[in-house]
Amino acid sequence: MDKILVLDFGGQYNQLIARRVRSEKVFAEIKNYDAITVEEIAAAGYSGIIFTGGPNSVYDPASPHFDPKVLTLGIPVLGICYGHQLMAYMAGGMIVPSESGSEYGKTTVFMKNCPLFEDIPTESVSWMSHTDYVSVLPEGFTAVAHSAKCPCAAMANEKQKLYGVQFHPEVTHTVYGQRVLHNFLFKVCGCTESWRMEDFAEVSVARWKKELAGKKVLLALSGGVDSSVAAVLLNKAIGQDLVCVFVDHGLLRKDEGDYVENLFKGKYGINLIRVNAEERFLSKLAGVTEPEQKRKIIGEEFIRVFEDTAKTLGDVTVLAQGTIYPDVIESGKGASATIKSHHNVGGLPERMKFESIAEPLRDLFKDEVREIGLKLGLPKEMVFRQPFPGPGLAVRVIGEITKEKLDILREADAIFREEMEKAHCDRIANQYFAVITDLRSVGVMGDFRTYGYTVALRSVTTDDFMTAEWTRLPYEVLEAASSRITNEVKGITRVVYDITSKPPATVEWE
Ligand code: XMP
Repeated sequence: MDKILVLDFGGQYNQLIARRVRSEKVFAEIKNYDAITVEEIAAAGYSGIIFTGGPNSVYDPASPHFDPKVLTLGIPVLGICYGHQLMAYMAGGMIVPSESGSEYGKTTVFMKNCPLFEDIPTESVSWMSHTDYVSVLPEGFTAVAHSAKCPCAAMANEKQKLYGVQFHPEVTHTVYGQRVLHNFLFKVCGCTESWRMEDFAEVSVARWKKELAGKKVLLALSGGVDSSVAAVLLNKAIGQDLVCVFVDHGLLRKDEGDYVENLFKGKYGINLIRVNAEERFLSKLAGVTEPEQKRKIIGEEFIRVFEDTAKTLGDVTVLAQGTIYPDVIESGKGASATIKSHHNVGGLPERMKFESIAEPLRDLFKDEVREIGLKLGLPKEMVFRQPFPGPGLAVRVIGEITKEKLDILREADAIFREEMEKAHCDRIANQYFAVITDLRSVGVMGDFRTYGYTVALRSVTTDDFMTAEWTRLPYEVLEAASSRITNEVKGITRVVYDITSKPPATVEWE
């Protein structure tokens, strides 16, 4: 199997490079520049190497460098952005910093004919993000692309199969970026398509079987896609040595707890402990109406329940988490204003002491995790399920959380989701649910006056949940949901539809 080394010099798109390579059905692994030596690279049998970008300037003494011998191993190399400059520097070229020559964003790049740019028009848009540029090419290299401000937007030493590009082929703004990577893999490195997502599952199962041999591993299973896929994968690797703890905080959707239990225990025979902690959570939440306080209470109580359960398990030394790559980037983002204190069960037990942490999905993006989930036989409805917040229905009960309100909400929510799916509106909406407000109003049923809650229906259409549009649902769907909810669920007299986008609103009501 061909494999590509992505040598990491600290750029922000490094996982994206690996992902783009994998999408060409070629295996890619990322190594930090100081985690591998040139001898190890030579011995590992790579078909090609990609130097990533990075925030530094090559003349900065603190900037990451690598043994220049890597360019003489006969293994093709593609340098990207900082990697391109580093390659030029290592091969004897010169780089100059130039504020006036800096380029950021979509930039027209003119490319010449060379193996890297086969089947790409001579003029196209690429994504640039640089201040320094290669001013003197190393011996044996020619410039094969330029932009208005950058005389060497790409360079090539075709004989030695060394290429550098100043732009970022891995980001989608570079219109022919995927083609550049494709050409590097197949035209320059001579790779063949030899890697499939199934292989990831297999390789990963083998890896964790070895690494976790003889250890007892604990995983907090939420029933979300990531922790579910991690659970099934690790179960394949270590079977009963994996203990999954599923904390049912009583804030789950209708029948969700049973579904998760039946699926993981029943279908997969996973060693699953379901902790029914509804009473614990509801008593802690009694009388609390402030959204942030609710979230905090749930987060803290979750840790307590989890810890209490872990204590009963004996010699657990490893914590497994369903962390995926976007979580890794997000957690490194630093301090941005807290709009809501999001929490995911996987990230919670920080204060618990474990010898190590196992994160089998750490390098993957959501769609890759889904693909593996399907390969591992997880049902479609689980793999493509909509996001569900860690604090569960608590953020959809306005005002005090009571069992009565939760039960009413669960019924209304189930009906709304059913009607949405029946009308295939799940194709146009990315997340939809019901919210129970704290507002009660008068209604009439038969000859009787009723007095019940107002339920709001929320449906959003979004790419990334950072911004979202309210979904333009057909009136018929809203009508069916409203009619069924008011008829079938006792305690609701009014149904409204939320027509606020994000921003200014958020997706959840609390
Ligand atoms: P907001 O309400 O912040 O929601 O616009 C954006 C997306 O995040 C989900 N969400 C959460 N997910 N833990 C989570 O794992 C949380 O505490 C949480 N709060 C909101 C929300 O459902 C939507 O998909």
